[in-house]
Amino acid sequence: MREKLEQIKTLALEEIVKAQSMQELEQVRIKYLGKKGELTAVLRGMGGLSQEERPIVGQIANEVREAIENSLGSAVEGVKAIEKNARLAVETIDVTMPGKSQEIGHRHPLNVVLDEIKGIFMGMGFKIAEGPEVETVFYNFDALNAPQNHPSRDLSDTFYISEDILLRTQTSPVQVRTMERSKPPIRVISPGRCFRRDTPDATHSPMFHQIEGLVVDKNITMADLKGTLDLFAKQFFGVGTKTKFRPHYFPFTEPSAEVDVSCFKCQGAGCRVCKGSGWIEILGAGMVHPNVLKVCGIDPEVYSGFAFGMGLDRIAMLKHEIDDIRLFFENDMRFIKQF
Ligand code: DAH
Repeated sequence: MREKLEQIKTLALEEIVKAQSMQELEQVRIKYLGKKGELTAVLRGMGGLSQEERPIVGQIANEVREAIENSLGSAVEGVKAIEKNARLAVETIDVTMPGKSQEIGHRHPLNVVLDEIKGIFMGMGFKIAEGPEVETVFYNFDALNAPQNHPSRDLSDTFYISEDILLRTQTSPVQVRTMERSKPPIRVISPGRCFRRDTPDATHSPMFHQIEGLVVDKNITMADLKGTLDLFAKQFFGVGTKTKFRPHYFPFTEPSAEVDVSCFKCQGAGCRVCKGSGWIEILGAGMVHPNVLKVCGIDPEVYSGFAFGMGLDRIAMLKHEIDDIRLFFENDMRFIKQF
């Protein structure tokens, strides 16, 4: 039994010296001193010893236990140091390594153009109005006097979420929302996203942007509409810009017009940008239809108004001679940084 104890001591101390981590030390402790450990097993077997042998072997066993415990105790420091060094090695920071450079962002060209347009209208006393992109059929069509059989109501033209909820196809519903919640005088523009079921190509995107304009007050006439848009065109495209109103049809305006500006590139001589005509169509406009005023609780006998709607993407494309609308939405920094 004595030899057995000596052997346990020798082996245990050897293993303690070899241990590289706290975990390994703990394993050694359990192996020899634990409830099912080797030393414990020897102590249990002492019942079979004679009266004389028992105290002697008991003493040796105690000494072996103490030796192992002491050795474990003093090994802890060393092992902790080893572990710490290993951690430090892994976590070393090389302060001389070059850093990762952060690419600075750039304002999106649509935002650059939008801010310019906002600035022009705010200079004329317009405020910014906002409306939801997920709209009701009521605001997008019914309240805007759209006939029940108007083609834009069709499933093939509009993204419907349910029978009476859709993704707005135009920013015009903001006209209705604005008139509902405020009294004339009203002077707002409302930029935002619109959605139509178009297959993407160079000039179509199922998501695009419009800027709506609305003015309602007493004695607002077509002259106010023409003056406002003419001033806008001159400020945005250049002082020499002329505007031309062509009769058109929109359900929510009467009379309605499409507005062209003289080509800012060739001053009307005819070029690639204006496709040789000297004129570029930039928006739809008209006098707010009495039915629309009525739906919003505004008396058409007392008040009148004008409205207009332009495509932001189209105007930005014209201004910067960008020939594919999809470039706006690909988020390629090489494109975005040019403007
Ligand atoms: N909402 C029309 C469209 O998407 C554009 C428009 C035309 C807006 C005439 C207006 C307007 O406010 O008066 O085609």
